[in-house]
Parts: sequence; C-alpha cells; structure tokens
Amino acid sequence: MGVHITLGSGAPLGQEIYRQLREAILDGRLREGDALPASRELAASLGVSRNTVTSAYLRLGAEGFVSGHAGAGTHVSGGAATRRRRAPAGDLEPLPFWRRPIFASSHGPRPSWDFEVGVPDAALFPWVEWRRLVARELRPGRSLGGRYAEAAGHAGLRAAIARHAGIARSVRAGEEDVLVTSGAQQALDLAARVLLAPGTCVAVEEPGYPPARAVFESYGARVVPVRVDAEGLDVEALPSNARLVYVTPSHQFPLGTAMSLPRRLALLAWAERHGAALVEDDYDSEFRFDGRPLEPLQNLDRAGRVIYVGTFSKVLLPTLRVGFLVAPASLFPALAAAKAMADWHVPPETQAALQRLVDDGLLARHVKRALRVYRERRERLLDSLERRLGGAFQVLASSAGLHIATFLSDRRLDASALARRARAANVGVQALAPFYAAAPRAGLALGVGSITASRIDEGIRRLAACVGTRR
Ligand SMILES: Cc1ncc(COP(=O)(O)O)c(C=O)c1O
Repeated sequence: MGVHITLGSGAPLGQEIYRQLREAILDGRLREGDALPASRELAASLGVSRNTVTSAYLRLGAEGFVSGHAGAGTHVSGGAATRRRRAPAGDLEPLPFWRRPIFASSHGPRPSWDFEVGVPDAALFPWVEWRRLVARELRPGRSLGGRYAEAAGHAGLRAAIARHAGIARSVRAGEEDVLVTSGAQQALDLAARVLLAPGTCVAVEEPGYPPARAVFESYGARVVPVRVDAEGLDVEALPSNARLVYVTPSHQFPLGTAMSLPRRLALLAWAERHGAALVEDDYDSEFRFDGRPLEPLQNLDRAGRVIYVGTFSKVLLPTLRVGFLVAPASLFPALAAAKAMADWHVPPETQAALQRLVDDGLLARHVKRALRVYRERRERLLDSLERRLGGAFQVLASSAGLHIATFLSDRRLDASALARRARAANVGVQALAPFYAAAPRAGLALGVGSITASRIDEGIRRLAACVGTRR
C-alpha cells in the first residue's frame, strides 16, 4: 500500500518527504521489511524531481531507517524504536448510558480448572467439516459475485433453520418467518430498535442476562427487573405498562430452571391483555439431558405476540456470530429493515456453509456427540458438588443447557469473595451477584463447556477448600 505523503507545508520538498517517511517508520505504520515506493513512481505521483526523492531515501538510509540494494528496492530496516500512534483524545462525550463500562472483558488467561459459563467446548466443533463447507463457498462463482445479499438471510439457511427449530424445539415457522442475525444479541437489538421508544417500560428477569438488559437500556427503555421463582418469571409482578418482556423459559439465565407450563400460559395471556411483546431467548436448549421439553412460548402463542430468538453460539461456536429470530408477520418487515440498517446481512459464505451443516445432518450428529460429552461432565459436576459441597451448596434443578446454578446454603457467605478466592486457587466460577439488578442471592454458576470430565472433581475439591477458608 502506498504511504500517504502530503506536500505543501512550505518546507523543502526532500526534507518533507524524509520527515513523513521517518514518522511513518517511528509510529509503526511502516514496519521492518516493508518496501518504500520506487523513487521514480513516488516522484511522479508527488510531482517532484526524482533527485528530491532519492535525497530523502539516502538520508533515511544514512540514519539506519532503510536499506537498499540496487534492483531490489528500498526497505525499512529493523531496530527503530517505534512509538504507538493514537487518535487524538478529544473532549467529545457519549450519551450518559455509554459513559460507564458496560461489558466486562473476559479475555485474560483462563484458570486451569475453568467452569466458565456460557461457552461451548471449541474442541467438539466439527472443524474438518466446517472447513470443507466454507472452502466450497469461497470458490469463484459461489459468493453472489460480490453483491449485497438479502438482509433477512440466505433463503436456504432460513428454510433449514425453520425445519431445525421446528423439529428440535417445535417452533412454528416457515422460511419467511426466520431472520438470520449476528447472534442472539443482534436479535435483541433489532427487537429493541423496532419496539422501544425512550421511556418505554421493559420487564426483564431478576436475576437475568445483563447484555439483554443493557441493549434495552441503550435505547432509552425503562427496564424493570421482575423476580424469578422456581416456576420462572412471576407474571403477577409484571408492571402493567411493560411493552416488552424478555424471558429465557427453557433454561432460565442464570438459574437454569425451566418455566412451568401454567406460567407460560399465564405470561401469554398477560401479554395479550396488555398488548405487550414477549422476547423468548432460547439460547442453549439444544442440550437437553432429561425429561420432555415444554413447548416454547412461540408454539403456544395464538396471538402473534412472541419473538423467538435462537443462536448457534452454544450449539456450535460463539465466534461464528450467527443467530436468528422468528417473528410474527406484523413485525417481520420492520425487523428485516432494521437488520439491513444495522449491518446489511450476515456473511453469505457463513450462511450457506451453515445451511449445508444443518441440511446434511452434520449439526444433528454434532449435537448428539456433544450431548454425550456434556452429559458426562454434568453428571460428574453434580456428583462432585454433592459429595464435596452437599451441605454448603444447594444445586438448582435444571435439565438442559451448559451450566448449572447453586445457592449457598449459608446466606451470610459472600459468593463473590468465594469466586475471587477460587480464582486465586486457579479455579474459575461465576458468582450470581452480577446477574441481579438489586439484592443478589448468594450463589455460583458453573459451566461445563471449558473443562473436561477428568478435571472436574479436582476443580470442585479446590473450590471446596476455598469454602473452608472463608474469610
Ligand atoms: C441468555 C443468553 N442469551 C443469548 C446468549 C448468546 O448470545 P449470542 O448469540 O449473541 O452469542 C447467551 C450467551 O451467553 C446467553 O447466556
């Protein structure tokens, strides 16, 4: 790439070319081994004599910034102490919502016994098949010839998702009801865009999924947390002016419990009475360990009140960034327009490869295999918790998903401090407190996506030792 040089500062031309190239080397825009433009070409493009450029190159060479060999061009030498180039700080301010840190970063080193919540095991992902399918889509002539694609998604993938969600979750949808999104998070964002005005009341579960709460607040909604009990969201406690209710009925996040059928029916009846939309986030229920799953709200809905949200983040990988929503016809065009406005569409190559993964039965095969692995991990985790921490922890009933939640029997114990002590002992567990908007209940969530079965018991032994050393 040609380095950008601007003349006209009034300084001698050779000196200006020298200064700007030296600057580019010092701030790292030009790196060791990069070629400087041929002196003849640079001279022509700047409208200066070739001698002017060569004098600048000679000076850079004499100072050790570049070296040149006849015929091989001039290249940046190593060893220059570079300093980082930054954009000016400025004093522009974002709106108040954006002034606080919103998402805590979890990119640090992973603990050796890692019970991280919300991630699948990347080692189980069908890498070989995926590489083959993506490579096929990258062949000339396959990728829409570089044109923009349909915002609602690749027709084949939409149809595959409708069938897959229909079979696996009894979601009632045809291809035209499915919108492909960049993960569940974007589905929530699109729902918020088309349904919320500043000040609109939104009800979320307490405890609940903070990124959902954050996206609604970012559009100026007034978010009201509503208590979750053993049957799910307490419908009686919903504020009557809520226009949107966000729920995770299959596997409540983070407690892991399933919403009972009477609660599901009560919630649907409430939404009809109050003219509210329900956003049903079904993020990880492909992994079901026992019992028959209850019908999703989307299937029970007769009034077109439910936006069903699914994702491939747990069942495959979060880095794919593919999710979807199934919306009532009354909302679909607006949601598809919002998707186009946000980022046009998910990369078509990813969508087409994913369609093949679903249609060729590879996804179903992967789920079956991963389910066996996760089932074993989950059983070991439950067994180990019972043996080592049975008195101290109360495990919450759940039959699906990649994590379980526990309450600490001794309510005076500080679960966040326990999670910190565990981290110091190289064990990663998640306190429940950050998932509560108010008065948190002491507890921990433990995932099975990042730890192999053989390491689980030692991880829990170490965790139990931390409980013993309460300070
Ligand atoms: C409740 C809930 N919804 C959705 C997601 C997945 O989001 P995405 O599809 O944007 O990766 C997660 C991931 O942790 C989650 O816990």
